[in-house]
Amino acid sequence: MNTFTFTYPTKVYFGEKVAAEALKGELSKVGKTVMLAYGGGSIMKNGIYDEIKILLTDANKEVVELSGIMPNPTYTKVQEGARLVREHQVDFILAVGGGSVIDCCKVVSAQAKVEEDIWEMEYVSGKFPTQGIPMGAVVTASGTGAEMNSGAVITYEEKMWKGPIVGTAVSFAILDPAYTASVPSMQVLSGAFDTLSHAMETYLGNSDADNVSDDVALAIMRNTVINMRRLLVDINDMQARGNLMWDSAMAENGILKVGRLTDFQAHQIEHQLGAYTDCNHGQGLAVIHPVYYRHILKDAQEKFTRFAREVFGKESAEEGLDALSDFIKECHLPTKLGELRSKVEITPEILRKVADSCNIIKCNPRELSRDEVYGILLECM
Ligand code: NZQ
Ligand code: ZN
Repeated sequence: MNTFTFTYPTKVYFGEKVAAEALKGELSKVGKTVMLAYGGGSIMKNGIYDEIKILLTDANKEVVELSGIMPNPTYTKVQEGARLVREHQVDFILAVGGGSVIDCCKVVSAQAKVEEDIWEMEYVSGKFPTQGIPMGAVVTASGTGAEMNSGAVITYEEKMWKGPIVGTAVSFAILDPAYTASVPSMQVLSGAFDTLSHAMETYLGNSDADNVSDDVALAIMRNTVINMRRLLVDINDMQARGNLMWDSAMAENGILKVGRLTDFQAHQIEHQLGAYTDCNHGQGLAVIHPVYYRHILKDAQEKFTRFAREVFGKESAEEGLDALSDFIKECHLPTKLGELRSKVEITPEILRKVADSCNIIKCNPRELSRDEVYGILLECM
């Protein structure tokens, strides 16, 4: 293993009905003015907004709301949030939502503490935030694992770019599977596929023989597949939702990634596809993964063979990838780009732009050329 230093900043409260008690305790430790941040209104419909509003009132907090955080949160929204934080001198940010709300808030938190434009600071000056407005998260849709890391994925519309910006890690995360009860089944499954993807992308990077990260990543993949299949039988199976919620956090909390290289090429392609189309993240990955993996099969034959055996109970690498494709269909996830939600018609011209602007992972299993990325995307059509 490569050398590493690992610390963990987030306290996790997991389980059905843990939210009220956990929030009461945590809110008592934070300042007077709290920003309550959320998405497009699902928390109004399912009652979570009312529950949290009561807790905030009981805790005697001044509440500033940041609402309407969209899936694939934009840089404009981040700046709106940071302005609100400064204007109202917000002491604490409470993000209530899925990966998009949490990501947006992580960068709002960091941007509010620095004068410079945070994208310029990170991508031009190469400096990263060292402080942020303290924040916590209540997860209402799982899959990204955004609640347990400091990285956020933001869409910068004017630059036609979707990618990572380092923000603030939450000090606490509340994971109540019951809070995900109202998530539409399509989102539940695409979120879970995102988790599967995180474990696959980590595992596919170079690693020493017999290292614990590979073993845990394979266990997370297996467990994610098992619990997604349980949801195909009963989408309201709360135990399976809970298992997936923790799989999601485990796959992206950094534990798997220390001391090794990771791949994440499928993610880089999907993120840039998202910049042009605003497609759903997990669904985009479902389309890209099988095509990309067939393309690099020979470069990671042994790893794909182990994946086939341990995740899908198949003998060969090829059979494992067929099983992955079949599983995507079994979950009713899209298999072609044309099935994705998109704000534009997905044409070869758009795909060329995606290929020419996506980040290329310069290590393993193999560095792709831009023409190869374009070829992969064309095959996804
Ligand atoms: O906006 P509302 O009305 O809340 O509706 C949301 C949204 O439409 C809905 N939803 C959330 N909780 C709900 C609910 N609907 C009913 N009941 C509930 N309890 O779900 C929809 C999708 O939400 P979103 O947060 O966009 O989904 P997800 O959690 O998949 O997040 C996707 C974003 O995270 C990024 C993605 O790129 C994408 O921008 N990622 C973040 C990562 C990270 N920070 O570590 C890693 C990932 O690889 C990923 O890139
Ligand atoms: Zn992802």
